[in-house]
Amino acid sequence: MPAKPKRPQRKPRRTKTAVSRRRGTTARARSTTARSGKRRATPAVAKSRVPAVITAPQADAESAVPFETALTLATDHSPDDLELTPVAPRTVPVLPIRHTVLFPFAILPLSVGREKNLRLLNDVMAGDRVIAVFAQRDPGVEDPGPADLYSVGTLAVVLRMVKLPDQRVSILVRGTARVHLDSLLQRDPYLAARVAPISEADSSDLETEALANALITEFERIVTISQSLPVEAVVAAKNQGAPGRLTDFMASLLELPTPEKQNLLEMVSVKERLRTLNGVLAHQRQVVEMGQQIQESVRESIDERQKEFLLRQQLEAIQKELGEGDETQRQITEIKERIEKAQMPAEVRREADRELARLARMPVQAAEFTVARTYLEWLCDMPWAVATDDNLDLKNVRKVLDEDHYGLDKIKERILEFLAVRRYKKDARTPILCFAGPPGTGKTSLGMSIARALGRKFVRQSLGGVRDEAEIRGHRRTYIGALPGNIIRGIRRAGSRNPLFMLDEVDKLANDYHGDPSSALLEVLDPEQNHAFMDHYLDVPFDLTQVMFITTANYLDPVPPALRDRMEVIELSGYTDREKLSIARLHIIPRVTRENGLEVLKLQITDDGILKVIHSYTGEAGLRNLTREIANLLRRTAKLIAEGGSPPLTIDAERVRELLGPEKFQLEQATRIDTPGAALGLAWTPFGGEVLTVEATYMPGSKGLTLTGQLGEVMRESAAAALSYVRSNAVALGIDPTFYESTDLHVHLPAAAIPKDGPSAGITLCTALVSLLTGRKVRPSIAMTGEISLLGRVLAVGGLKEKILAAHRAGIKTVILPAENQRDIEEVPIEVRTHMIFAPVDRIDQVLGLALEDPPPAPIEVASAGEESQGDPRGPGPDPTPAPTSIETESIVARGRKGPG
Ligand SMILES: Nc1ncnc2c1ncn2[C@@H]1O[C@H](COP(=O)(O)OP(=O)(O)O)[C@@H](O)[C@H]1O
Ligand SMILES: [Mg+2]
Repeated sequence: MPAKPKRPQRKPRRTKTAVSRRRGTTARARSTTARSGKRRATPAVAKSRVPAVITAPQADAESAVPFETALTLATDHSPDDLELTPVAPRTVPVLPIRHTVLFPFAILPLSVGREKNLRLLNDVMAGDRVIAVFAQRDPGVEDPGPADLYSVGTLAVVLRMVKLPDQRVSILVRGTARVHLDSLLQRDPYLAARVAPISEADSSDLETEALANALITEFERIVTISQSLPVEAVVAAKNQGAPGRLTDFMASLLELPTPEKQNLLEMVSVKERLRTLNGVLAHQRQVVEMGQQIQESVRESIDERQKEFLLRQQLEAIQKELGEGDETQRQITEIKERIEKAQMPAEVRREADRELARLARMPVQAAEFTVARTYLEWLCDMPWAVATDDNLDLKNVRKVLDEDHYGLDKIKERILEFLAVRRYKKDARTPILCFAGPPGTGKTSLGMSIARALGRKFVRQSLGGVRDEAEIRGHRRTYIGALPGNIIRGIRRAGSRNPLFMLDEVDKLANDYHGDPSSALLEVLDPEQNHAFMDHYLDVPFDLTQVMFITTANYLDPVPPALRDRMEVIELSGYTDREKLSIARLHIIPRVTRENGLEVLKLQITDDGILKVIHSYTGEAGLRNLTREIANLLRRTAKLIAEGGSPPLTIDAERVRELLGPEKFQLEQATRIDTPGAALGLAWTPFGGEVLTVEATYMPGSKGLTLTGQLGEVMRESAAAALSYVRSNAVALGIDPTFYESTDLHVHLPAAAIPKDGPSAGITLCTALVSLLTGRKVRPSIAMTGEISLLGRVLAVGGLKEKILAAHRAGIKTVILPAENQRDIEEVPIEVRTHMIFAPVDRIDQVLGLALEDPPPAPIEVASAGEESQGDPRGPGPDPTPAPTSIETESIVARGRKGPG
């Protein structure tokens, strides 16, 4: 038996139990019994005196009062009180009952109303009070005969009788023994029969004990989970003693249909009764548990809803308290005011009013409400009527441009010209300005400067990676999370309808299956169309004619021709070291100092220090890395000071090395050529000019030409042309004319150049090949650019200025270039020009004469035919170097001979 802590035997209280099903009694009756239950405080009262408060259950004559009362009474008696009348076959009056069964040892209150039964009670109360109680098979029968009664009943003693006002009586009976109805002796004036006791098969073996324990345990469980059964019921069950009595106690407590109860009464075997009851209780427990679960879930859902309801009510109350009143109304009033203030054009105003009316019909909580409100906010926020006045005083513009930018004289001139036209013709259809050049050359900052000079708002929108038309023109409002495109967003950010709008990186505009953003951009920039620019989200026209668009690009090749046509291109080609030094001194250092709040430290960088940064830590046309490294220098020094150190406040070249670490660029390294087969070319890239090394090598094979590196189609053609030239002029060049029969060639261009740049590597490729095949090295410090024709002519190429600047940066002294490009040299800043030698050429043999070292002194087999042409170089090498040592010569010659051979 589970060790349930023994509780003090409390006064039984009224319980409404799940086990009870006698609902026939009315509420009044129940409450009365409840009271009576409470009143049965002492066993003394319970013993025999009839409590006046017990009133009859009204409807059901001869039926039981609720189970609670029975329990109450049962527990009021000690088992001794219930000592049985010795039982032998005897004749007794029979009380038929309708809706229940009386068990031995049980005490049952009954309400009696039938005429015969009242007479019976009258008689027995005067005598020994012993009766036999039999249940009716059919409760509807008024005057039951022997066939209407079950044949097994209970011998009982009437403990009390109370007369009720309505002629009925209420009695309390106690069962004493099972009896069998042997024969009915009389039907009138009431039933009487001969009954014989039934002795139960009570066994006291282990199984019975176990079954009894199990029954109590099960019962205990029910009591624990059911809030309606009193714990006293368990105590009472445990006190029943013999298993037979326990079963009868339990059977009379349980809520069971009469036939089942009767069945239990008729069971002679105690074990069988125990088994049946165990089954019934297990079932009951499940029912109770399930009932609880159901109640629980019902309660939870009710709680949830109640909580929400309460919170909403509170929220409303709070809003009312705060004077927020009706939220929808408040928001609508607010937007209405904003619409009034926005000074929209009539057409837009109509759309706004229409949307507002729609909004007013929606609940605030609706998702649609937010969508509509956001749209209206966009309409209100657009600067329909806000504009700045242009300050077209060109002197002022010049002053501002000079303040912000060092040098760039030609570019500033162009900008001023551009603005001058605007000054005289306000609505002039001036083309869109486009600043093209390598990164960090001041394109964006020039735009900002112009905006500042004119007194316009400045907005910048990068088009880099824009691949979707919708990014320019917005998504339709029907899309979830739709927004206006870049243009409208930019205008709102500017807060003025005539800002200077910089469209950065037009060359990075992507173009794929998402739609063509460049055509949308075309519309933005087209003065014929942009007076009524339609953004998909805004869905009303916005006038862009007052916006001043400036675009920027690194290079113009990828820009669609239609777009390029619309733009006036101003090229920025990068700065010389001297310019960079001045810009660093005048602009970058003061600005970085200011931005980092380092003025107090009075840090300085010497010219040598700046040049060291330019040469060894940045390899660029623009100023990006220079700006970054200068900031690093200043910040690192400031950090050291903050940490309590005392680093030098003036940063010289040596200190630069200490602060920035190992050099990232080493001029000599990049331009040192020390094997035959390598030559320096000059390339143009979107990031400025670049020096690149062309390398050629060969191996045994037959007639193969492999090209690797960054090569476009044009570059392959150049290489093929160069090779054809070499083969057709082999003898003159001192090369075995049959070399190609048994040789594979491999040419590699390591550094990046854009495909367009292909032809300009022609003479470099050719030089590298001849160098390889003759074993003559290229002289140091020479770089070249130029296209080669099949017949050995050198043709003009582009990007000369950037290329020369790059060569200068790399420390190249001599640049070989096509004679046709000679005039481009004038574009190059004078300070660069004075430090370099330019060698304009028409023919490739001139190039070879200038670039290649003199032929080795030792005669070689095939050299005799070529000696002629090598003997008359068209010009002397501008920077001749000493002849290679004999060991080198030997090995080169050996290689040169072996290869072609
Ligand atoms: N001529 C110049 N004078 C002074 N500062 C310059 C000059 N050119 C560029 N800068 C500065 O160099 C930095 C990079 O310029 P930026 O306009 O961002 O280059 P880009 O847009 O061409 O990539 C900016 O801080 C800019 O102010
Ligand atoms: Mg920029």
